Formats: sequence, C-alpha cells, structure tokens
Amino acid sequence: MTQKIDSEREKYSGAYGTITLHSFSERKASKEADFFLPYLSSNMTLLDCGCGPGTITVDLAKIVAPASVIGIDIEDSQFEIGRNKAQQEHVNNINFQVGNIYELPFPDNSLDAVFAHAVIYHLKHPDQALKEVYRVLKSGGIIGIRDADHDHIIFTPSSPILEKAWNLLGQVVTINGGDPFFGKYQRKYLQKVGFINVKASASFDYAGTTEKIKQNGEFWADLILQKQVTAVILNHGLATPQELETMSQAFIEWGSHPDAFFARARCEAVGKKP
Ligand SMILES: C[S@@+](CC[C@H](N)C(=O)[O-])C[C@H]1O[C@@H](n2cnc3c(N)ncnc32)[C@H](O)[C@@H]1O
Repeated sequence: MTQKIDSEREKYSGAYGTITLHSFSERKASKEADFFLPYLSSNMTLLDCGCGPGTITVDLAKIVAPASVIGIDIEDSQFEIGRNKAQQEHVNNINFQVGNIYELPFPDNSLDAVFAHAVIYHLKHPDQALKEVYRVLKSGGIIGIRDADHDHIIFTPSSPILEKAWNLLGQVVTINGGDPFFGKYQRKYLQKVGFINVKASASFDYAGTTEKIKQNGEFWADLILQKQVTAVILNHGLATPQELETMSQAFIEWGSHPDAFFARARCEAVGKKP
C-alpha cells in the first residue's frame, strides 16, 4: 500500500496529558482551519491526520457531511474528547482511529481532502508523509496543512530564563527529528511532492486576555516538565533539573503578569493533486 519508511522515525515532542488536551480541545475549524474552509464543501470525503483530541475534525465533519470523515492519530488516548463532542453535536459521519500519516490505511486515489494541523513540523520525513497524503488523494483532491514557525514567537515580558526555555523547547523538537521552523517551507515541500496551485498564508496563535495568558503560561510550564521533554534536555546536558523547575515556575509567573502577551506564527498552505 505504501512506500517503505526509514526505520529512523522521529519522536513526537508534544504531550498527551490533561493540560495539553484541554488546550488543544479548544481548537476550532473556524480559526485553525480557516485557510482551508473555502476549499471544502458538502459530500467531500476528508481525512484529518494527527487529529489529536479531534475538535477541529468534528467541525470539519459538519461541513463535508454527509460524506465520511476519519480522524487518525498515532495516540489512541486522544480520541475521547472528539468522540464526545461528535455525540453531543449529533455528528454521525465521523470515525476516529489509530493510524500513522506515513502509512495511511486507504487505497490510492480515494479521498477528496486531507488536513493536518500542527503535525508535519514534528516529522523527520515530511516529504514521505506528504507523498503518502498525495497517494490517497483523488485527482483534484485538496491538502491543507498548518504548522508553527518558531522564527516568529512574540512573548512579553521576557527574561533570560524564559528565552532559554523557548530555545530548549525548539531544540527538543529538532533533536526528536522535527523542525520547529518548518512553517516557512510548506510551499517548497508541497510543490516538491507534486501538489499544484499551492497557496500559502500565515496567521498567529495568541493569548491576549488574563484568562488565556494564565492558561498559556500553565501550558508551557507543564510541557517543559513532561518526561519526554525533560529526558531529551537532560540526556543532552542542555539544562539541569533545577533549571527546568525554574523555567516552569517562570512560565507560571509570566501567566499572571498583567501586561503579558504571547503570539506564535502558524504558516498555512493548501495544494491540489493534479
Ligand atoms: C500538536 S498535536 C495536534 C493535534 C490536532 N491536530 C490539533 O491541532 O488539535 C500533533 C498530533 O500529531 C500526532 N502525530 C504525531 N506523529 C504522527 C504520525 N506519524 N501519524 C499520525 N499522527 C501523528 C500526535 O500524536 C499528536 O496528537
């Protein structure tokens, strides 16, 4: 069904815990997939790769109904929120299943649209993943991807310890095989794989209210102490456990600063299979 994958796979640098899940589950198609929505219409079969808790997936399913939508993720524990949201909102055309973007469980030329939000920049082989998406799309099918680019993080008030924390979080993605600066290369990769009419744009994730900044501070404070993150940092001698505790605390303190603001660039691109 698919090409053989390099045995040297990346490791996912994100977390799967309660704080991360809560933050991701606030995502909506009207914001995170806004760039992709003009290309969708009723009765398009759609796959959401690396769907996580799947709240965006459920919104997309409403748009393309009655066609079926599949959300896949390598992590089984992510689907409960999406399944509950689908049930509460009477969305019946959706299925969540474990799956890997490198080996999609679909025949060639079988889907109308594929979406991947905040996934490709974690991958060591974005070209192989995008080739696999290309394979399963029908001629005329559409891909939409959105990825962070750490070249553009706006964060105030900052401090040396928080600057170091940002650098470390980026380094963890790199060491795990991803690219925290991937966003800017989306056009290059989509075109290399054969997609045409590639259109790139950008927007920001941001936190600009007391509540959102507190939540954002807690998110980063939690992430930097997650064991898969600390393991990379400590194994590479990039910081001490005490420094990581201090960084986590600094994120919490930042989250209660009255003037704080956070924004991070997300690049977005859409392409068509000829
Ligand atoms: C940052 S989260 C984004 C989740 C969701 N798209 C969202 O924006 O709310 C990235 C997700 O990609 C998944 N993932 C990472 N590598 C993957 C792969 N090779 N195939 C499928 N999913 C993958 C992770 O398990 C994680 O749930």
